[in-house]
Amino acid sequence: MVDPNVMEKIVALCKRRGFIFQASEIYGGLNGFWDYGPLGAQLKKNIRDHWWRAMTQLRDDIVGLDGAIIMNPAVLKASGHVDTFNDPLVDCKTCQGRFRADQVDKIPCPQKPSKCVADCHGEKTAPRNFNLMLKTYLGPVQDESAVAYLRPETAQAIFVQFKNVLDTSRQKLPFGIAQAGKSFRNEINPRNFTFRSREFDQMEVEFFVHPDDGFKWTEQWLADRLAWYEAVGLPREKIHVLDVPEADRAFYSKKTYDLEYEFPFGVQELEGIAYRTNYDLGKHQEASGKPLEYFDEATKAKFIPHVVEPSAGLDRTLLALLCEAYAEERVADGDLRTVLRFKPCVAPVKAGVFPLLKNKPELVAKAREVEALLRPRMAVQYDDGGAIGRRYRRQDEIGTPFCVTIDFETLEGIREGATAGEKNTVTLRHRDSMEQERVSISALPAKLLAAIG
Ligand code: GAP
Repeated sequence: MVDPNVMEKIVALCKRRGFIFQASEIYGGLNGFWDYGPLGAQLKKNIRDHWWRAMTQLRDDIVGLDGAIIMNPAVLKASGHVDTFNDPLVDCKTCQGRFRADQVDKIPCPQKPSKCVADCHGEKTAPRNFNLMLKTYLGPVQDESAVAYLRPETAQAIFVQFKNVLDTSRQKLPFGIAQAGKSFRNEINPRNFTFRSREFDQMEVEFFVHPDDGFKWTEQWLADRLAWYEAVGLPREKIHVLDVPEADRAFYSKKTYDLEYEFPFGVQELEGIAYRTNYDLGKHQEASGKPLEYFDEATKAKFIPHVVEPSAGLDRTLLALLCEAYAEERVADGDLRTVLRFKPCVAPVKAGVFPLLKNKPELVAKAREVEALLRPRMAVQYDDGGAIGRRYRRQDEIGTPFCVTIDFETLEGIREGATAGEKNTVTLRHRDSMEQERVSISALPAKLLAAIG
């Protein structure tokens, strides 16, 4: 059964241990914005790097891009964002709150005691369209001609650079362009911690295919993306695949799958995989007047490629991994331990390194030696504070998969009956099983690297 307070506990852990802080906290925060602390920044980087490697290094049919956040506003006019990237907004005349009309039954009302908007029966205005793009002005004169937007998705830079990438990367259909980066949406009701934010990171691929192959590639991407989520730590059974019905799809999409995760606050979207036909390139070709066609050498045919778009949220993946990893359990001594069971590949710290006692210079020197051996190869934390059990708990709580303790046996080199190969050993403690084994220092880096992947 899901603990009803689990989200509160996760939010508290994130703050206590430096994963995620409210943005601008000392000024009262800013709704919909979050700062990732030391461990959160590393966790986020590990997930992004895992995705980037899976997309651009482990396969040869996808190349990367790092486009500008602010684009010529004509891009977002042609893509339809300026005119139609809207959510329906209603105002409540009683509490003065503003709500997304399609989520009124789920959002708390600002009246105290707080009620759900649907129960407050305050008079609401008729829904009206609210454009989600954040606006800014370029240059010194702040008039309509200077308006620009913070990108609401990373995808558009990929479409408008399609030709440059095609001409410079020697790719042939089918091939993709991947981009990870910030996107901004002026969400009416940011909520559920980082789940719906106003500034967030996306990881998107636009995969260009022959028009006959769109459905086939949509199925392939569904399989590939499910495998990726499993590789970073979300079990297949916790991911729901929604085959989005035609009435709920964008009019140009012939097929869309939503991948949803069982968050503690409900089953919610992690990623959309959309077969977008040739809509985006077609619109940009029409509006820019520049050809965005593909010439097929083999058939001598010229056409606008179709696109399959797996579009994932990095902050949402990170939140799902936190929810999946979080556990509380009774351990042998009756203590309650909180543990984040991150897969080693995403864990922000891979190994804790401890001298058994901090007032024994030989133990400290050896522990510093082990730290120096591991540090160039992986993220490690050196900790000499308090009893060893407390140090294990501290690492459990941030999801460190391995702890290495330098103890008297390390110094003695040989325990009773030990062979020469067992000299110079340390205690390696495993987070999930809490089992301990002795490992020789020389074998340690390779052993840990193999487990981290
Ligand atoms: N290019 C297609 C596109 O942007 P989307 O469904 O609007 O599609 C893709 O967004 C993903 O981006 C979502 O599945 C989600 O993971 C993430 N995302 C969208 N809006 C978000 C928000 N306000 N906060 C956090 N993540 C968001």
